[in-house]
Amino acid sequence: MSTLALLGLQWGDEGKGKIIDHLAADFDVTVRFQGGGNAGHTVVVDGQKYVLHHVPSGILQPGKTAYIADGTVLDVETLLEELEALERAGVDAEGRLLIGWGTHLVMPYHKELDAAAESGAGEDRIGTTRRGIGPCYADRRARLGVRFRDLFRPATLLERLRKSLEEKNVLFQRLYDRPAMDAGELCERYRSLGARLSGMGRHTPSWLGEALERGRSVLFEGAQGTLLDADWGTYPFVTSSTTSVSAVAQGTGLPPRAVDRVLGVIKAYTTRVGRGPFPTELEGPEGEHLRRRGDEFGATTGRPRRCGWLDAVAGRYAVALNGADGLVLTKLDVLTGLDEIRVCTSYGLEEGFSPDPEDLADLSLSFRTFPGWREDISRAQSPSDLPEACLRYVRGLEPLLGAPVRLVSVGPERRQVFEME
Ligand code: IMP
Repeated sequence: MSTLALLGLQWGDEGKGKIIDHLAADFDVTVRFQGGGNAGHTVVVDGQKYVLHHVPSGILQPGKTAYIADGTVLDVETLLEELEALERAGVDAEGRLLIGWGTHLVMPYHKELDAAAESGAGEDRIGTTRRGIGPCYADRRARLGVRFRDLFRPATLLERLRKSLEEKNVLFQRLYDRPAMDAGELCERYRSLGARLSGMGRHTPSWLGEALERGRSVLFEGAQGTLLDADWGTYPFVTSSTTSVSAVAQGTGLPPRAVDRVLGVIKAYTTRVGRGPFPTELEGPEGEHLRRRGDEFGATTGRPRRCGWLDAVAGRYAVALNGADGLVLTKLDVLTGLDEIRVCTSYGLEEGFSPDPEDLADLSLSFRTFPGWREDISRAQSPSDLPEACLRYVRGLEPLLGAPVRLVSVGPERRQVFEME
């Protein structure tokens, strides 16, 4: 098998970083293809915790190539901080990191606009990560973006910044009561930041296409989750990129058939950060149990995550949308100690599922209840190490979600994962 896409099936934070790290050992190249610094992929190796926002988690496997492809939006300052942190931890990333020439850059004005819009929106806010993601993708489509290749063409960079700032400076001064930004200053600052990344630029469809032709294997690392997809998620409470499988082709320039296999990552319960519908949310002690035991606080923003039961209605939708061939079930250990575990099996809607917040406001949910278990499962290395009730839960999810569980994760460490036979 030469290519595999790994995608989140919920509202992000499914534990993809750790699974990518596990799978990356078997792939030559790991590619991020959408999203930006809003992602916070956490990997723990021998007690050392890494939080990666831009660099594909595959970088932690020695000798492997990590590729930031054009469909992402890149905050150069965050990337440089990340590279320094990796270097301090003894990971030599710079020689193994490549960046697509067409990758759009998140500029300081994108972050300012994101924060200003959120602060001014009151109850209508989305609850974004304030990393400038929405304004950067908006500029991309409005043809006002600055791209990675522009960092190395000073005249173009200045011209692009001037054009992009024309309207924004009016907004800053007249609407948001903030100082205007200067294109010349930004141009100098970004040229000097960019100098440290020179040598990493590549034309993505050619580079990846050739790698595949030469028989190299490629792992596509999704960020956020399917329910945050700009088109198919719970709009408008979504991120601004496509987070489902079609983003692989769109963000790399490879044809859709370049994806051989799709694995969907789903947490054994559900979490969400930011605002928006969450049908199975638990506000009482069970929600608190999940938040505390699952350490459910944002890797990027530190915000407490909202927690609830696994939603198999939304999960089934996400499996279908991505054509997932199999599932990776994460954080199963967090459920240990609960008397019973519930899974939502119906919204009581005629159409089964709807991503529309108004449809989701008033549902009659049905649940299937599974008995809980008390045994510690954090050292399990095969399905036979799981208590009967736990195994029944894992197997019970397969028909509800419409795909087989291939991998199970039972803790944050690299070794706490095993294959289902
Ligand atoms: P943005 O992507 O920063 O614009 O935020 C839009 C929505 O997506 C907010 O609800 C965020 O909390 C959510 N979001 C963005 N990135 C992530 C992520 O990596 N994990 C979980 N939620 C995310």
